[in-house]
Amino acid sequence: MNVETFPSADAAADRAAELIALGLQASPRLVLGLATGATPAAVYKKLVERHRKGGLSFAGATAFGVDEYVGLPPSDRRSYAHYLSEHLYTHVDIDRSNAFVPDGMAADAGAEAQRYERLIAAKGGIGLLLLGIGLNGHIGFNEPPGDFTSRTHVATLATVSRRAHTQYFGGESAVPAQAITMGIGTILAARRIILLATGIAKAGPVRQALLEPVSPACPASALRSHGDSICVLDEAAASALMGQTAG
Ligand code: PGA
Repeated sequence: MNVETFPSADAAADRAAELIALGLQASPRLVLGLATGATPAAVYKKLVERHRKGGLSFAGATAFGVDEYVGLPPSDRRSYAHYLSEHLYTHVDIDRSNAFVPDGMAADAGAEAQRYERLIAAKGGIGLLLLGIGLNGHIGFNEPPGDFTSRTHVATLATVSRRAHTQYFGGESAVPAQAITMGIGTILAARRIILLATGIAKAGPVRQALLEPVSPACPASALRSHGDSICVLDEAAASALMGQTAG
């Protein structure tokens, strides 16, 4: 896994946006996988700027959100469908019929997960996937212990993840218990992966993912087995690496 460290969170987000822009320029019909959360919001802001000022086009692209809460409709401001719409899709020229998020309101969430996995395959698989990392090393909502072969499925959120999302829900008990998430196997099938982490709170999980033995205890460590993955960090998130990375 290649690791790139930047002086600030802004510079790290700029690099992630640049990698996505280069991918779209090289392959206008690129299939993107897109994470949600606080970290990638800065990347989407920069992609919108590149679209407005630099003519970056998403017109031929397809996009798949990495995950969605079970029980939230796209109209709910806290849903990831709403997030991706507000942070990116509304502001660029992507064909909305090619922008997908799992349906959190599906009557059968397990069947919806399988449908989503089939849809990704039908679109040719993910070409470029942007991921964040959770405080417990999760990617998507693949909480420890992670199953490295899992495909899109219904996951139960870890307590630490629910706590991390309390700010959006006004209380831990209000955070949905489950999400539909791409599995680690789905993620590893992406042709290129960008893992973006910024801020001191991510220093521990980043260290675990990059330096400690590859283990289900840290789902993000699975990315080290991927042939084309790049970890983009700011100095704070890189601060526990001490100049060394494995794999
Ligand atoms: P965050 O989430 O960017 O909001 O910290 C990261 C994640 O949980 O994947």
